[in-house]
Amino acid sequence: MSRSAHPAGPRYADVLPEGHYTAPPADLNALDPKVWPLTAARSATGAVSVGGLGLAELAEEFGTALFVLDEDDFRTRCRAWRDAFGPDADVFYAGKAFLSRAVVRWLTEEGLNLDVCSGGELSIALAGGMPPERIALHGNNKSSAELHQAIEAGVGRIVVDSFQEIVRVARIAERLGRRQPVQLRVTVGVEAHTHEFIATAHEDQKFGLALAGGQAAEAVRRVLKLDSLELVGIHSHIGSQIFDTSGFEVAAHRVVGLLAEIRDEHGVELPEIDLGGGLGIAYTSEDDPSDPHTIAKSLREIVDRECRGARLAVPRLSVEPGRAIVGPSACTVYEVGTVKELPGLRTYVSVDGGMSDNVRTALYDAEYSVSLVSRASDAEPMLSRVVGKHCESGDIVVRDAFLPADVAPGDLLAVPATGAYCRSMANNYNHALRPPVVAVRGGEARVIIRRETEEDLLRLDVG
Ligand code: LLP
Repeated sequence: MSRSAHPAGPRYADVLPEGHYTAPPADLNALDPKVWPLTAARSATGAVSVGGLGLAELAEEFGTALFVLDEDDFRTRCRAWRDAFGPDADVFYAGKAFLSRAVVRWLTEEGLNLDVCSGGELSIALAGGMPPERIALHGNNKSSAELHQAIEAGVGRIVVDSFQEIVRVARIAERLGRRQPVQLRVTVGVEAHTHEFIATAHEDQKFGLALAGGQAAEAVRRVLKLDSLELVGIHSHIGSQIFDTSGFEVAAHRVVGLLAEIRDEHGVELPEIDLGGGLGIAYTSEDDPSDPHTIAKSLREIVDRECRGARLAVPRLSVEPGRAIVGPSACTVYEVGTVKELPGLRTYVSVDGGMSDNVRTALYDAEYSVSLVSRASDAEPMLSRVVGKHCESGDIVVRDAFLPADVAPGDLLAVPATGAYCRSMANNYNHALRPPVVAVRGGEARVIIRRETEEDLLRLDVG
């Protein structure tokens, strides 16, 4: 999605679209720490390990396609975000990126909170032991059943998204005899520089209530009139895979502007603002994301400055990174099945997965890198396209990749940075069986999501 052009490479310029790699990397065996999990390493024998375990051994034991999740990497990133924001702020991990009970336990232990956006995610969060007061519920069309489930469980905040929902939440809270803390999701009117499908703060879209035109201010009036709701703050999420903080700057400016209006109109200063998630990660060596400390410092400065300008006490800040925590923590291991050379074009390398375990390439034109991980190779770089086994030509895992020219059936490839929005968006197209997620740490492997089986498929097909 973010891509700067390489210097033109005459050999490949005719087959690679503008802006894509035009030159192979210097060393095909190198593992760029920007995209690989923290503990990934290539051993003297040439095979790659994560968490102290060879990916080939893991593939042997658990089969392919396989998600390998590096627990140390995940926990280290949680801590980095927690430490960067400090005790006066809250970090809510966005569960939509990837959620399982094991992950919920890690988050709880590392002091993060959790953002969920469906009854399913809420159930996993509660079953994993996240204290309900540390859970936030999101969504533009939460059902009454989901709202009931959340309020009854005692979630710390519901982010209300529409006029109808204000009434719905209030009624259910009243019925349950609760006063439910809510934040109001606002649309700040920022054009985030990212793929259209994952930009969420321009006005023409389904999320939130617009600041422009006064819908957000009207929603505040309505919430403040309802005894069963406690308005604790304003929420903004501008989009995903964003690399610079200028969009957050505009968002903070406008959100703080609303807080000042609320103070002037209602005489109340809301205690919280949430600037959402969306911080980008490196999918290839070309991407250059900021570290959590730089992001935290910049967001804090923006909020402090805006509040000083509006003469407001600085509210408690929260953020909701999903991809920036789990994205780089996992890689997907595939086995090569067929290698098809198209003379003058490229070589198609087919693997035993595809758009059912990573739909991001087909959906957003996402870019990934890929490495041969079962062995090292000194062969020449070969312009390749790594494709899946599904029945359509858009089933691409890595559009433009350089692999060693001796790559052959039986080799294992791994695509790094697949921790976010891959397993969580996995599907059963062609009745594919969704791959397992194996957590690795200190030489131990643990299946945290098992592989789907044909019995699972047949159990759903009730005839
Ligand atoms: N908070 C809210 C309210 C969100 O809607 C999202 C993502 C996040 C936080 C976390 O965003 P992150 O930090 O993970 O970028 N399937 C797409 C991404 C959709 C994100 C939807 N909302 C993808 O694969 O890129």
